[in-house]
Amino acid sequence: MELSRNEKLLIKTLKELGGSASIDILIKKLGMSIVEIMNAASWLKMKGAVKIEERLRTEYKLSPEGEKSLNQGLPEKRLLESLLKSGKENIEKLKNEIGKDVVSLGIAYLKGNGIEIINGNIILQDPEKARYAVETNTNSLKNYLNADQETLKRLLKRGLIEKRDIVERIISLTNVGNSIEDKDLEIRDEITQLTPQDIQTGSWREKDLKRYDIRMFAPLPDMGREHPLSEFISRVRRIFLSMGFKEIDGDYIVPAFWNMDALYIPQDHPARDMQDTFYMDSESNLPDYAKTVENIHKSGGGISRGWRYEWNREMARKNILRTHTTVNSIKYLYDHRNEEIIRVFMVGRVFRRENMDPTHLPEFHQIEGVMVEPSSNFSMLLGTLHRFYSSLGFKEIKFKPSYFPYTEPSVEVHVFTDGKWLELGGAGVFRPEVTIPLGIKDKVLAWGLGLERLAMLYYGLNNIRDLYIADLDILRSLPLL
Ligand code: PHE
Repeated sequence: MELSRNEKLLIKTLKELGGSASIDILIKKLGMSIVEIMNAASWLKMKGAVKIEERLRTEYKLSPEGEKSLNQGLPEKRLLESLLKSGKENIEKLKNEIGKDVVSLGIAYLKGNGIEIINGNIILQDPEKARYAVETNTNSLKNYLNADQETLKRLLKRGLIEKRDIVERIISLTNVGNSIEDKDLEIRDEITQLTPQDIQTGSWREKDLKRYDIRMFAPLPDMGREHPLSEFISRVRRIFLSMGFKEIDGDYIVPAFWNMDALYIPQDHPARDMQDTFYMDSESNLPDYAKTVENIHKSGGGISRGWRYEWNREMARKNILRTHTTVNSIKYLYDHRNEEIIRVFMVGRVFRRENMDPTHLPEFHQIEGVMVEPSSNFSMLLGTLHRFYSSLGFKEIKFKPSYFPYTEPSVEVHVFTDGKWLELGGAGVFRPEVTIPLGIKDKVLAWGLGLERLAMLYYGLNNIRDLYIADLDILRSLPLL
């Protein structure tokens, strides 16, 4: 039988150990890794020289509590020591002296074993009996490794020891393995790679060549991967980039002015409530443009009748955590108000004071986009969204009329999967009150879509938190995009 170096070593060692041994022992004895040993063992198994068995073994070890009791004495021992001094102690007083737990546990184990409780006092009636009980308990703890089932059960119940089931792999020689002769176990130089020198000098003749078998036992490495949510975001970005959109970015902290006022959201809108929005302790300075916005809110600036209220500048100056990514769209439009053609998008985090549940988080992502060009119109908006969702594999989508203070018409986007329709975002054409002050005459198409819910549909998850809690098993199980 042809044997590799490690196989020979393994057989030799097994012979020395009387024919069989556990992997743990072999690791120590041979100084090899578990992989090397299992490799050699699998080879030998195929050659019929060893068998590999799994055995379940129960192991007991001291719990932290058991450890403590061994060092400081069991509670009953410490209680007895106190009682031996005076024969009688007040329970409350003793609790203060040696600890509540020590006294209660000590009583529990010694009551009826030499002590009695009378009127809040502990009385040592039979010191010999108590001493015997303490010694018995202490000895069974000391000798727990050799204890009988009954004692183990008791120690487990007291929480002094802990139990662990371990699977042990045992490798044993078969008759074939046993009959391998010592001369066949001689260790020779073994090489895994032939060099030109080996061939030129003929030294390969003295060496054993190790064989390869790609079906051999080997642990499967866990490979790193991008987080599924990041992967999904990259996918979304690729789609918009391929449709000719430019990616933009923006701050998390923004003045309410850009997040709300510039979008013609009235100052008494419920979304501005402290209940819905995270407010910061700071304020921002407003651009001159705020005067125009103020005028629009108050009286419509010649475009419409406006909201007809006293616009409050201080409210607009307050900094908040952005509640939607549309803040970046309006800011971008303002900064590029002289450009004829705009096609930008972003995927960004937004923040709302929501309670957490399986489909809501106070922090989530939106897929935002805005486009304008001389010929832009409402059906271009619907077509663009349709194209986006179908690129992700969602072919059936529909639009329902909706309302946002800054768009007209406004729609909700619904996607059909798993037999039902799901609302995934909003879109619309910016109202003249938003765009005319910027000098934009063409129709500005905009949308803000939920990312997490879409990712959940995509990955088949039903709890949004699975995307945020780093549960490695779940993360590894999700498909690569
Ligand atoms: N900003 C809206 C939201 O957060 C979505 C939206 C964006 C609607 C752009 C219309 C236009 O739900």
